[in-house]
Amino acid sequence: MTTEPRVVDTYADLAEADRVAGQLYTDPAIFEEEMEKIFYSTWVWVAHESEIPEAGSYKTTYVGRQPVIVNRDRKGGFNTVLNRCRHRGATVCDQSKGKANGFTCPYHNWSYALDGTLRGIPFPEGYEGVVEKGDFPLQRLRTESYAGMIWATFNQDAEPLEDFLGDAKIWIDRFFKQTNGYPTKVTGIHKFRFRGNWKIQLENTTDGYHFPMVHKSWMASVDSETADMMSFMNDPEAVTHDLGNGHSVAIMAPENADLDIEDGAPLQARFDHLVEELEASGEYTPEQIRRFIRSMHGAGFNLNTFPNVSFSLAFFRVLIPISVDETEIWHMALGMDGGPENVNRERLRIHEHFQGPFGFGSPDDAEGWDRVQLGAAGAPGMPILVNRGLNREIPSAEGWPTSHVTDETGMRGAYAMWKKMMSHD
Ligand code: FES
Ligand SMILES: [Fe+2]
Repeated sequence: MTTEPRVVDTYADLAEADRVAGQLYTDPAIFEEEMEKIFYSTWVWVAHESEIPEAGSYKTTYVGRQPVIVNRDRKGGFNTVLNRCRHRGATVCDQSKGKANGFTCPYHNWSYALDGTLRGIPFPEGYEGVVEKGDFPLQRLRTESYAGMIWATFNQDAEPLEDFLGDAKIWIDRFFKQTNGYPTKVTGIHKFRFRGNWKIQLENTTDGYHFPMVHKSWMASVDSETADMMSFMNDPEAVTHDLGNGHSVAIMAPENADLDIEDGAPLQARFDHLVEELEASGEYTPEQIRRFIRSMHGAGFNLNTFPNVSFSLAFFRVLIPISVDETEIWHMALGMDGGPENVNRERLRIHEHFQGPFGFGSPDDAEGWDRVQLGAAGAPGMPILVNRGLNREIPSAEGWPTSHVTDETGMRGAYAMWKKMMSHD
């Protein structure tokens, strides 16, 4: 193994089937190219429809490094517009979410409709024959949704969203079964940054291998039934599928992977108090109550959709690249809209226990990610291995490359997509 940087012809040569070069985390030129060839070329997840529930509701976020506003208009359609005034480029909205009829730039008050149309210019004298309003809307991104999830792209020629999602759609549908027939709502967001490249996070979501080691403190802090549920190291049913297009799914609790399939197992004793409350309310059948409790920890799997959002057990994990060595993460807790609020509350407590700022899970993950970046920065030419399980990978009945959940099948799928997109001119 060499510590010398290798001579390469193209960026794509840095990602091989079983390893990637450390430069992938450290080279600013690679990061710039990723923004163009990945984040500005394909579908990037921007919102869940529950975040913009009414006409005029909006949220601000990023596609790659570019600030955008996602909103719902009066016709119920979704718009994504670049948060950048056409006059001198100021952001026109600085709230994380809200409700508005349109957006007025605070600098010189050019005003825009929800779909980005330029509506008004103060003191228009001086612009006669110079600015035609129709020529200067906020830049619009193509916006499409699937199952309440909204993606946007700068690429007007991108394939339809549903084609891009491909076989991930089956898993998206399964994921939302955890809200038991009620619409899904985002019940809270926790944001943080780590000093590392975005792909370190991308790899982590379907990396079952780190779980028992990194999350030892979490395992020690939960009841034995929850710990059992996550003891998948020797469970042959716990597998990772490479779903194509960089998407992958890691099934950690196979008995919960499809909540419509009854597992017949006893409910966890830790939720006895909740069962009693739900029974006492008289509002729910025993079947409904059983289903609420079974779905408490989420879908039983982590679905990673390339490049920026994962549907992770009971929450969304969104990554926003900041620079080659900094990434922002949004952990978005999920609940039922209209279902029993005490179940939502309990789901939020579980979320806090792992993902929250005082949780037992995320801080340990983030330390691992920081360490990977430090190591890569020291010797960028040294490879990062993604070969675990390479020789035991087989196609599933659906044709998905499949190996044990502790194997690096998901990462290999993501890097194959990375390589394909980065090689594209
Ligand atoms: S920069 Fe927006 S109105 Fe001038
Ligand atoms: Fe983790």
